Amino acid sequence: MIILCAVLGYLVGSVPFGLVITRAFGLGDLRQIGSGNIGATNVLRTGSKPAALLTLICDIGKGAFAVVVARWLIGDLAALAAGGGAFIGHCYPLYLGFKGGKGVATFLGTTLALTWPVGLLVCATWLVTAALTRISSLSALVAAAMAPIWALFLGLPWAALTMGVMAVFIFLRHHANISRLRAGTEPKIGKKP
Ligand code: G3P
Repeated sequence: MIILCAVLGYLVGSVPFGLVITRAFGLGDLRQIGSGNIGATNVLRTGSKPAALLTLICDIGKGAFAVVVARWLIGDLAALAAGGGAFIGHCYPLYLGFKGGKGVATFLGTTLALTWPVGLLVCATWLVTAALTRISSLSALVAAAMAPIWALFLGLPWAALTMGVMAVFIFLRHHANISRLRAGTEPKIGKKP
């Protein structure tokens, strides 16, 4: 049953909302725009704030949805499996030949639904870093790195472990961003690389 939850979570997480919404708004193929990523940061580079906001909501929502439904139907372990599945689904989606996004919004949704105090602290970390730097990827990396620390701070070692694993994936998915950050060429929010 736990494995089934992970698989169903994966299928939910695999839905590439950024791609679908960008097409629905008539903005072209997101993979040919900006960084080529399918997330809200790249949707914003099309110039459409509504499309970017909708993508952010849907990508957060699919992580949260997987966790909430699995918890409601079965329990906490199933929720963890479904949330992890949704996160992996966003990063390596079945429907896009396993070439997906960087997992940040789905990570936020999963984290908020698994343990909302940690989720709120992770969101706050992203917002403060973004306000200071105006760089989405750097904000994501700082928020991901801080997530297990916030979980430990709140006395939640299992959550810290889960978030630590997801943070490793987020760092792996940001390798191109990390190179640009090191070179000082990573664009600010809304600008193209
Ligand atoms: O959430 C994705 C963000 O961290 C980086 O996106 O398009 O600038 O590579 P992008």
